[in-house]
Amino acid sequence: MSADVGERVALVTGAASGIGLAVARRFAARGLRTVLLDRSPEVGRIAAGLGAGAAGLVADVGRPEAVHAAMDELRARFGRCDILVNNAGIHPKKDGGKWTIEQIPLEQWNEVLAINLSAAFLFCQLALPLMRAQGWGRIVNVSSRGGRTASPVASAHYAATKAGLIGFTRIAALEGAPDRITANCVAPGPIETAMTAGSSPEVRAAFTRSVPLGRYGDPDDVAAAVEFLASDAAAFITGAVFDVNGGTYMP
Ligand SMILES: NC(=O)c1ccc[n+]([C@@H]2O[C@H](COP(=O)([O-])OP(=O)(O)OC[C@H]3O[C@@H](n4cnc5c(N)ncnc54)[C@H](O)[C@@H]3O)[C@@H](O)[C@H]2O)c1
Repeated sequence: MSADVGERVALVTGAASGIGLAVARRFAARGLRTVLLDRSPEVGRIAAGLGAGAAGLVADVGRPEAVHAAMDELRARFGRCDILVNNAGIHPKKDGGKWTIEQIPLEQWNEVLAINLSAAFLFCQLALPLMRAQGWGRIVNVSSRGGRTASPVASAHYAATKAGLIGFTRIAALEGAPDRITANCVAPGPIETAMTAGSSPEVRAAFTRSVPLGRYGDPDDVAAAVEFLASDAAAFITGAVFDVNGGTYMP
């Protein structure tokens, strides 16, 4: 059965900074029991700052055994997982810009796939049985504008994982639907976070000029969409992609 909002457990990966932290802040403010997962050891201290209902978990989502251990701990502590936000992601930069296909080392390709895509698969695989038992669940995967269309600043591994997340989410939506589990993506455009802080001033200036709304987004611009998709109000939305990009891509 669907739990009261205050009983729900929300897991947010990559929650020590940027978009993930903004999502966790919104969840905690709504009274959800919010688990902030990150590879940064700072995540425990950050979670403590969000109140008694929040908890931190240190794990590297690029390591399957760490994902299993994190979900074991979540199950042991809370016995449920109502909301899963697969947000942890990396976008390696080369001299403040992109890596071309000819430059990407295979180890880096594999690392980007493991963190940005395979981790979402693993978390869903482990969270779905818990959601099915509850007859309710919300999965929100953080894709990117770079997974929606060709982006001059996206490297091939990053774009491949973000496009892959969209296809994966559609199947999760179909498979979860019988148990009232929805799965959706948000696809942010340029957002002011540590990830984009690594871009060169030239890339940032060009990107800002390309945004119809004339600015980089704030992490909370994305968190607002994630919060909605994770809510009861979004019960009839599944398999969708919400573009949160300031108008840079309008399919
Ligand atoms: N910032 C943007 O412009 C933008 C645009 C589109 C999509 N996104 C996506 O948004 C998501 C969040 O990125 P952000 O911009 O907030 O960046 P960020 O760097 O501020 O936050 C990413 C967080 O993920 C964590 N993380 C990275 N690898 C991890 C791992 N292996 N295990 C556990 N935690 C890990 C980091 O420690 C960090 O706290 C990413 O998936 C990113 O691809 C960002």
